[in-house]
Amino acid sequence: MEQWWRNAVVYQVYVRSFADGNGDGVGDLAGVRSRLGYLRDLGVDALWFTPWYESPLADGGYDVSDYRAIEPTFGTLAEAEALIRDALAVGIKTVIDIVPNHVSDRHPWFVAAIEDGPMSPMRDRFWFRPGQDVGGVEPPNGWTSQFGDAAWSRTQNPDGSKGDWYLHLFAPAQPDLNWNHPAVRAEHEDVLRFWFDRGAAGIRIDSATLAIKDAELPEVTDAAAEHPYVDREEIHDLYRSWRTIADGYDPPRALIGEIWLDDHDRFSRYLRPGELHGAFNFDFLSCAWDPIALRRSVEQTLRVHTPVDAPASWVLSNHDVTRVATRYGRKDTTFSFAAKHVRVPSDLALGQRRARAALLLAAALPGTLYVYQGDELGLPEVEDLAPEHIHDPMHFQSGGTDPGRDGCRVPLPWDGTTPPFGFGPPASSPWIPQPPGWADLTVAAQLADDGSMLALYRRVIRVRRHYLAEEGPPLEWTPSGDGVLSFRRRDVTCVVNLSAEPVTAPPGRVLVASVPVADGQVPPDAAAWIQDRPTADKIPNKEQRT
Ligand code: GLC
Repeated sequence: MEQWWRNAVVYQVYVRSFADGNGDGVGDLAGVRSRLGYLRDLGVDALWFTPWYESPLADGGYDVSDYRAIEPTFGTLAEAEALIRDALAVGIKTVIDIVPNHVSDRHPWFVAAIEDGPMSPMRDRFWFRPGQDVGGVEPPNGWTSQFGDAAWSRTQNPDGSKGDWYLHLFAPAQPDLNWNHPAVRAEHEDVLRFWFDRGAAGIRIDSATLAIKDAELPEVTDAAAEHPYVDREEIHDLYRSWRTIADGYDPPRALIGEIWLDDHDRFSRYLRPGELHGAFNFDFLSCAWDPIALRRSVEQTLRVHTPVDAPASWVLSNHDVTRVATRYGRKDTTFSFAAKHVRVPSDLALGQRRARAALLLAAALPGTLYVYQGDELGLPEVEDLAPEHIHDPMHFQSGGTDPGRDGCRVPLPWDGTTPPFGFGPPASSPWIPQPPGWADLTVAAQLADDGSMLALYRRVIRVRRHYLAEEGPPLEWTPSGDGVLSFRRRDVTCVVNLSAEPVTAPPGRVLVASVPVADGQVPPDAAAWIQDRPTADKIPNKEQRT
């Protein structure tokens, strides 16, 4: 049985910002369909679409109002079906996003729960509670939302009086579901089948540790044996039941979790046989550009995945975090939601140079590689958006202290020398304006330049498929000086130089390098893959798929 998720390159499509087919300024499925050739030539195996369902887009689509319909600004269900088919025809699988923790406040269940008043049975599908005090003015408990601010909003009764509160671990427009309710379970099982029947090869599970709550809704304390909503034991039963559904398909569908947990052993429990197939590696994503920290992260990752026989994943960024090129150009190169280094200067040339080397590192490691759209172009974080172009609830709920995530969601530049850079037709205005200086970063400009980030991505993915995609024997660290990461898989050695001096690569054939390697010297902040037993075979020029 093909276990494609174990070593795939998965490209994350943030539909709203990928390509605009109808000129309304918003990316759409028609735009993606028209660019499938680009994705095929990039060499990716699968696309992960952030939510494309009908949604008021209060949180970029992570507020779903109808799972069986496509957001009208993105297209239609028929287009989604055609996209899944067309992508498969060029060898690309489709992974969709499922958001179990919450729905939109415009979802018919929640609309009914509000409109039908306090006695509505629909309220049992959410977490409605009276306030703590007699007047109900104090929220039911002190939980805070992941976006900052209280995790509770107060309702208004149909007669206009103040009513109960409802729980939302994210924005008020995202009421949390009660997974103790059988209808919530049944509905999601049906949604999974709906999309698996339409050819989705897998799902990415949003906020995968949060869905199950302690029904007593106790305060968060260090003393409690279990957190009232993070990583509760019962969640594993939920994923086991989803796994049974996924395994009932031919070929089986893959389950990938968004699991932000500091505790690596708790993390790996989601990947036990019979549960999820994979999870995003946020430890690696958050790690500093530092040889000791990176080696620790890689070793830790492999240590955690091996006993459960799950593939590791290598993730440099996504639609929630600071763009790699900007992050790596800063003095502090870590990522954390708590400390985003807002408006801290970044040396972009350095950041892009390191991002190139980081790609070679991530792509050489065993497991799944995730690429967030625009990283293959080396796009920087856009940090000077005018207030009217900030959409992200994270910004507003933090009281403006968090810049929000719009800066990594700016529409892609495809061609031309001025906005909209081919994102949509010439007169269209992208929903977030692109910086006028992005002419050199367009796909067209980079295709014409062998030294571009895009050219490097295309080559790395192609060479990876040829030499490193199969699992083979375990990764082996090879001796190297301080500040250098060097490891071998099969007959390929990956050397990543994070020191201030050039290092001598092992003898052999350079398969790919992040910057030109002359006389076997890998410069600082650069990386190379060296084949130590050169064979006569040729690196394929064109993608070859069977
Ligand atoms: C996940 C998504 C993020 C979203 C949140 C709430 O973390 O990646 O974009 O805001 O869940 O659904």
